[in-house]
Amino acid sequence: MNSIRDLENLNEKKVLLRLDLNVPLKDGVIVDQTRIDKILPIVEFLIKKNSKIIIISHIGRPKGKVNKDLSLKPICENLENKINKRIRIIYQNIFELRKEDLFKKSDDQIVFLENIRFYEEEEKNDLNFSKHLAGLADLYVNDAFSCSHRAHASVSKITEFLPSFAGLQLETEINALKKVTTEIKKPTTCIIGGSKISTKIGIIKNLIPKFDNIIIVGGMANNILSHKGNRIGKSIKEENCETIINEIFETSKNHSCVITYPNDVVVGKNIDDKSKIKELNEITDDDLILDIGPKTIHKIKNIIEDSKTVLWNGPAGYFENPNFANGSYEIAKTIIKKKTIFSVVGGGDTITLINKIDAIDDFNFVSTAGGAFLEYLEGKELPGIKALN
Ligand code: 3PG
Repeated sequence: MNSIRDLENLNEKKVLLRLDLNVPLKDGVIVDQTRIDKILPIVEFLIKKNSKIIIISHIGRPKGKVNKDLSLKPICENLENKINKRIRIIYQNIFELRKEDLFKKSDDQIVFLENIRFYEEEEKNDLNFSKHLAGLADLYVNDAFSCSHRAHASVSKITEFLPSFAGLQLETEINALKKVTTEIKKPTTCIIGGSKISTKIGIIKNLIPKFDNIIIVGGMANNILSHKGNRIGKSIKEENCETIINEIFETSKNHSCVITYPNDVVVGKNIDDKSKIKELNEITDDDLILDIGPKTIHKIKNIIEDSKTVLWNGPAGYFENPNFANGSYEIAKTIIKKKTIFSVVGGGDTITLINKIDAIDDFNFVSTAGGAFLEYLEGKELPGIKALN
């Protein structure tokens, strides 16, 4: 991979900078700024080199349609304040943009394109869209490790049309994860939670040979509970996962990997509700499983305490409502209490969660990536990284 650090002359060069500014928003307000803070080094690096910077990012999953609630405007303003420099956000359709229009005033140095996923071509890894984007710049930098598992136009295809380089945060993340995977100390535990079931459920099977324990919490645990014949009420669940779940349990038999999933839960009637602890056989059709129960927490704590390495991606419950945050907080506190554990945590929601208890500095490494982090652990070559190579 070519590093942007090694490029001598960036003066006046137009750099298409792919970032992952997919931060949590509530009513247009940024809930957690970590992903923005992590990309300040690359932005400052390019400013110092006197480059012209065109920032590209996505936020959320607008599925190729313009969605005002998923505008990058608040993120752009936040970045402007952080670097104390004016940034022009461009709302115009990307297909109408021309290279010579972007930096008309001589002091224009940074422009921000609106949410790249407003274009259906992005997720299709579309050739013409990539070519057009590439036509706006002289070179491309990927500093978005956390979405490098997506074969999308601004992550993958674009590299076919521009000299392409790894950014500073992407390098840091890869080097740290390389170290983790080569120097991993047993017993090893991987905790997987969160709500992006489809992104993660297929990965578990491939992680089984690499870990002594896999703990499944969050949305995916609902799939397992349902598969095992439990009622899960109105809880989130991915369809058509029966085969993969069978494979997960079959594979775990052939490896000394113990799969742990909830044996009691915390439910509500809606996400804003109060919490109620329930045994699995007490779950009713109008319940939503929103956290793990005390018996499950106890079991998970014992596993963590016996581990030398813990990798964690995805909250155990709907922590945005404090009534359902206990499971995630207990996991975090158990990991950081035991100083002999080498701990790696990853993912946007997980970072938000550990920031809520001011624990981000208590983990050995914090990756901005969730799905990309797991796919990297799986040993897969991520499309965005492959494209840079
Ligand atoms: C993430 O938050 O993991 C990345 O921004 C990728 O988002 P996605 O799962 O919507 O592709």
